Amino acid sequence: MMSRIYRSFIRPALFEYDSEEIHDRTVRVLSRISRSPALSELVGAMFGAPKLPVQVFGLNFPNPLGLAAGMDKFAAALPIWEQLGFGFCELGGVTWHPQDGNPKPRMFRVAPDGALINRMGFNNPGAVAMAERLADWRARGQWPNHPVGINLGKSKITPLEKAADDYAMSLRVLYPHADFFVVNVSSPNTPNLRQLQDKAALDEVLAAVQQIRRDHPIRKPILVKVAPDLSFEALDEIVELTGPREVAGIVATNTTITRPNSENAAYSETGGLSGRPLRARSTEIIRHLAKSGLPIVGVGGIFNAADAHEKLQAGASLVQVYTGLVYEGPSIARQLVRGLKRLSIEAKLD
Ligand SMILES: Cc1cc2nc3c(=O)[nH]c(=O)nc-3n(C[C@H](O)[C@H](O)[C@H](O)COP(=O)(O)O)c2cc1C
Repeated sequence: MMSRIYRSFIRPALFEYDSEEIHDRTVRVLSRISRSPALSELVGAMFGAPKLPVQVFGLNFPNPLGLAAGMDKFAAALPIWEQLGFGFCELGGVTWHPQDGNPKPRMFRVAPDGALINRMGFNNPGAVAMAERLADWRARGQWPNHPVGINLGKSKITPLEKAADDYAMSLRVLYPHADFFVVNVSSPNTPNLRQLQDKAALDEVLAAVQQIRRDHPIRKPILVKVAPDLSFEALDEIVELTGPREVAGIVATNTTITRPNSENAAYSETGGLSGRPLRARSTEIIRHLAKSGLPIVGVGGIFNAADAHEKLQAGASLVQVYTGLVYEGPSIARQLVRGLKRLSIEAKLD
């Protein structure tokens, strides 16, 4: 019902405006609601999801559906994601240096295909400001009851050879403030970032990150987020590092720089493509990675319970959405978790 209202009336109105403008306004509204416990509770009553608990890399998730990185880059609306039915959220990407990102416009819809193209370029206030924001949510007593992750990127001004330090400095200040961390070496929008997926370069980044982790009495899970454009051989090389570098899991996948065979002029925009056209490739990568036995967070083109189920069947332990939330609206998590619950009950009855 709620999703039909969104798709029929709200979405067409929102889609009249620039994509990033609507995103920013939506997050601002959610941020304001977040600050009022009474309003947040109302959102929870309208959109909250049933329990479907899972335990992955030592953390307890109320349900396996999370908010993907990039939606709440600055933890502006941290408490609301739980109220909207999500079982976890991944905040950021955050870089060590504050940065504005690429010139606007930098986020585009391909509405007929349920897709987005973005070249944001890690616009964010930097790791120190993020740590302060997170400390503030905790001080207000509004920390959510689900795991919170932080997506770590590399600052644009930091040369590739210094990437390991950049990630490590961010992790050092953010470590006390979240439950798990994702080393993002797969965004297509920071020049050469994806070269850090090469085995030697990634090993250096992971070594630096592990050093920070070992300095703390609580060993929090560190994951790596990969691009859907890697070959299986390149993915296998990354998997080989996970043992020695104590990587807890892999987030698969980020956006793709490939484009579908389509006449739609929107596809000529530079940037990472997300949403429906990414679904099959991302599932294929998950299926391959899952053979390693590592926990996989599956993301890419999930719009409904069947899409999420496909990723879980392929071997993901958790799933995330970004573009699906834009196209399906705020009841996506509730609908999806309800659907998954039904599917898991049916599977048990079979
Ligand atoms: C506007 C936008 C910004 C994003 N920012 C980030 C980011 O900062 N870090 C990251 O790892 N992924 C980022 N992503 C990728 C998503 O987290 C996700 O991996 C990708 O969009 C595929 O999922 P989807 O098809 O559900 O959108 C971004 C995606 C979009 C559309």
